[in-house]
Amino acid sequence: MTNNPYLPVKSKIEKVIDETATIKTFVLRPEKPVTFETGQFVQVTVPGIGEAPFTPSSSPYVKDTVEITVMKVGRVTEKLHRSKAGDPVGIRGPYGKGYPVDKFFNKEVLIVGGGVGMAPLRSLLLTLIKQIDRFKKVILCYGVKMPEDVVYKHLFPEWEKIQKLEILRSVDRCSVEARWDGTVGVVTCLLDNVKINVPGSVAIVCGPPVMMKFTTLKLVEQGHRPENIYLSMERNMSCGLGKCGHCGIGPYFVCKDGPVFTYDQLKNEPDLWA
Ligand SMILES: Cc1cc2nc3c(=O)[nH]c(=O)nc-3n(C[C@H](O)[C@H](O)[C@H](O)COP(=O)(O)OP(=O)(O)OC[C@H]3O[C@@H](n4cnc5c(N)ncnc54)[C@H](O)[C@@H]3O)c2cc1C
Ligand code: FES
Repeated sequence: MTNNPYLPVKSKIEKVIDETATIKTFVLRPEKPVTFETGQFVQVTVPGIGEAPFTPSSSPYVKDTVEITVMKVGRVTEKLHRSKAGDPVGIRGPYGKGYPVDKFFNKEVLIVGGGVGMAPLRSLLLTLIKQIDRFKKVILCYGVKMPEDVVYKHLFPEWEKIQKLEILRSVDRCSVEARWDGTVGVVTCLLDNVKINVPGSVAIVCGPPVMMKFTTLKLVEQGHRPENIYLSMERNMSCGLGKCGHCGIGPYFVCKDGPVFTYDQLKNEPDLWA
């Protein structure tokens, strides 16, 4: 971290990885290490355009580079998608509270991701894999719209070999020609096939708001307690430091009190899934 919290660390894009038609992963190399805890976010500056918050998708154990996986939605993300290796960016942060991994020790950890929501979850998964013996088991349920929307395709065969890590995948729909060996249906369908000891488990959810809503409601219906369900929330941000008030949910600021919250903290907020 720099002394001035608004001053980004100069960084270079080291590599750009195409994930899908609208999602790319950027390997960023800061001039000095930017260390983070899994689930925290950074603000990335694209010179001449502005900055936007992203949760690193890389392992927090890797100190020299930070990876972000970015969906193209607007000005900053479009410019990032047009960037190439060698281009400059800035990184400030990390900010907020990440996943309380030590609270997951000796538990069954159920991770449910949708679309680009897999970005913070990859960081979390890499963190759990590094110390997998500390968890009873880890189950990843990952859903996307179509087979071509899957991110980190090259990592799944590697992850599937890991004992204590179970992976279930779904697509909303799929053409007859597509090679797809997972489930066809929305990601919540996968939860019907998960074998888990609910009282001894935690669940972590990240994805588009509608996916997070229905996944959380289904988890509650299955007996998961709101205090054991962790949500990665997104809101429009500016300062990232709890000062400007842009990112409020009820009494909380997503940038300072989140982005990871328990459902128990947020369950009474009327516009939670906006
Ligand atoms: C803590 C946090 C972590 C995030 N992590 C990731 C990540 O890992 N990968 C990723 O692809 N995206 C992530 N996002 C979302 C990302 O920050 C926005 O997509 C980005 O700010 C859009 O900037 P833009 O200039 O390209 O779009 P703009 O031109 O600003 O807007 C395009 C559209 O996106 C909406 N939008 C802008 N910012 C946000 C936001 N923060 N949340 C929801 N809608 C928004 C606008 O209302 C508009 O409709 C994260 C957001 C937060 C708050
Ligand atoms: S972004 Fe300014 S208070 Fe959260």
